[in-house]
Amino acid sequence: MSDQTLMEKLISLAKRRGFIFPGSEIYGGLAGTFDYGPLGVVLKENVERLWLQMFRDDRDDMYGVDAAILMNSKIWEASGHVSGFSDPLVECEKCKRRFRADHLDGSGKCPECEGKLGDVRQFNMMFKTHAGANEDTSAVVYLRPETAGGIFANFKNVVDSIHPKLPFGIAQIGKAFRNEIAPRDFIFRLRELSQMEVEYFVHPSEWEQAFEGWRKMMHLFAKAIGIPQDSVHELEVAAEDRAHYSKRTIDFEFDYPFGRKELWGLAYRTDFDLSAHEKHSNVELKYLDETAGVKFTPHVIEPSLGVDRTVLAILSSAYREDSMGGEVRTYLALAPKIAPVKAMVSPLLKNKPELVAKAREVRAELKKVHPAIAWDDNGNIGKRYRRQDEIGTPFCVTIDFDTLGETPELKDTVTLRHRDTGEQERLTMPEVAERIRSVIQ
Ligand code: GAP
Repeated sequence: MSDQTLMEKLISLAKRRGFIFPGSEIYGGLAGTFDYGPLGVVLKENVERLWLQMFRDDRDDMYGVDAAILMNSKIWEASGHVSGFSDPLVECEKCKRRFRADHLDGSGKCPECEGKLGDVRQFNMMFKTHAGANEDTSAVVYLRPETAGGIFANFKNVVDSIHPKLPFGIAQIGKAFRNEIAPRDFIFRLRELSQMEVEYFVHPSEWEQAFEGWRKMMHLFAKAIGIPQDSVHELEVAAEDRAHYSKRTIDFEFDYPFGRKELWGLAYRTDFDLSAHEKHSNVELKYLDETAGVKFTPHVIEPSLGVDRTVLAILSSAYREDSMGGEVRTYLALAPKIAPVKAMVSPLLKNKPELVAKAREVRAELKKVHPAIAWDDNGNIGKRYRRQDEIGTPFCVTIDFDTLGETPELKDTVTLRHRDTGEQERLTMPEVAERIRSVIQ
């Protein structure tokens, strides 16, 4: 299968099965926006929940915030985004289309119509709006371009309310907005995206150790969400390509169907942000080491993970086709931990009340293990299995006449079918519950 075909098939499956829809579709769409549907939202939440567990909740040195998206525009002046968060833009003098200059071949010709390209100018990517009824410059606010801003702005609040000991970090998940010149590749380059970010505050002498710790954590997260380890590559970003605030950055790249591209980033932001906010706000943003009796500005390590790029990496690496029962079968080999549905329960025949009643009982029992246990009694059993394969459900559980005791030694056993192999085994209910529990925890 060519990579182009894979993306087409993925986008089609995502829409058909309720994972991801084009944004504003009934009005012809809005470039760079997508909506998560019933299954996609659960997949996304499972990714976010796992991140919260690994990056915040399982640790004693991490705290959360959920800051407002709209913030005082001085935050973005201090952070350097108002003056410097821009991409190089060129316009074709003939067809008037606009492109990112650094995505072109350098020939000076329009890739669409061969017309002459104009001069390159910097285009600020922040979305601007106005707070309140006045549309004058004093009311300008920006939709945040990174969630990090809300963390730095709350550094003092967290220190004053929680009194954490250094090193400690603040984690946040939320929306960010970037007016990308050329949104593309499905949910890879969006204008409205979600980020999972940590700002980890350390003593300046300890930044390297913290950097290494978070570097390992990012690989552990890649493993936990089930993306192949050999598809994730580290790229040491050269000084001239780093963001203005960074002294060291590693990009975690992923082999997407359209090429090796940035999945996540890990940056050493030094004391750039706290110092800049202290200067612009006139509020002291230092940490007092009570034991040593010294005050200093902590340095920052920032693991930054895009949720949407993570979901795309998961979906594109999970997509499979094989042949089963003489037909081409499509399935998503999702890690059970993040699969939106953990198991589907089904009576072999839907017009046999005794089978349906027993299957309902089994489903209620399995829902005690995890709430995401689906029910399907539509069509023949093969079709039901295929539907679950396509959405990545790891297990199907079927209740038949043997469950009811037609073969006495099989009474109270059910069929457990495995998604990836299609293999089936006969198990008791406690065994099935344990199988499911063991792979989703
Ligand atoms: N706070 C640091 C920061 O925002 P970034 O490298 O600009 O750094 C971090 O973005 C992550 O956010 C990226 O590694 C990527 O996962 C995601 N991301 C950035 N721009 C994106 C876009 N236009 N669409 C989707 N995800 C994006």
